[in-house]
Amino acid sequence: MPETSASGGAYYLDPELYDAIYADVVADIAPHVALVRGAGGAALELCCGNGRLLIPTLEAGLACDGLDYDPNMLASLRAKLAARGLRTTVLQADMRDFSPRERYALIAIPFNSFLHNLTQGDQLATLRCCRHHLAPGGRVVITAFHPSAEKLLEWSGVEKFSRELPWRDGLVRIWDRADDDRVEQIRRMTRRIEFTDAHGKVTRRESMKFDLRYIYKPEMELLLNVAGFPRYEARPAFADYRDASSLAGDRPLQEGDNVAWTAWGD
Ligand SMILES: C[S@@+](CC[C@H](N)C(=O)[O-])C[C@H]1O[C@@H](n2cnc3c(N)ncnc32)[C@H](O)[C@@H]1O
Repeated sequence: MPETSASGGAYYLDPELYDAIYADVVADIAPHVALVRGAGGAALELCCGNGRLLIPTLEAGLACDGLDYDPNMLASLRAKLAARGLRTTVLQADMRDFSPRERYALIAIPFNSFLHNLTQGDQLATLRCCRHHLAPGGRVVITAFHPSAEKLLEWSGVEKFSRELPWRDGLVRIWDRADDDRVEQIRRMTRRIEFTDAHGKVTRRESMKFDLRYIYKPEMELLLNVAGFPRYEARPAFADYRDASSLAGDRPLQEGDNVAWTAWGD
């Protein structure tokens, strides 16, 4: 039985598996489409992956470019675009150093993707690059979870059964383990995956790793200052990506919130 391991660039192992695991992540779709609708000019989604947000945005009749550095995710995105008769500009590039042909009124980095920047150098490179490619009056909107001390401690250093999902003619079972370096603010995720056939026999095992560097509010403010953003704000977006009713409304930020950071370039 093959067992492989993916880390580094291939964060999500396989776009088809990504779609299965994140099929019920829906709470951010309508707010994201509304964000692009209100962009006031050209829009770009950084780390667009295989289009969980980009496809519904284009299907809503809006224009938005996409950028990601994973060729597998982009191949899957292109296949989905073609199947639906949708067109947009798709760039294969790194969020830390990209050079699109135009300037954008909105650059969005949704769904924790900014946290894939693992060093201050990477975080600042991404922010500076975004600022450089904003049109006058343009803004960057980053959505990322704010760490909660309680949640970090609750789930650290132990493997947890995460979920079982239909997969082709069988099932896929997933176990996640988070190991935290609380000094460097890095959460190292190890995901163990088992695939079964229609009779429940395990036919394949995989493991994959990805790291996230979580960011506290004063730290993000400092990063935005150093990257040259003169104006920014943080609003709670929602508590749970899988629950659209958890949209936060107008209230102060809380630990564990998914935060929408808006930073204006001028
Ligand atoms: C959590 S997925 C988000 C995909 C999509 N935005 C969504 O909401 O489903 C993160 C994506 O970021 C991409 N990514 C990670 N680091 C990147 C980098 N340095 N430059 C460009 N893309 C990156 C990965 O390839 C992956 O597709």
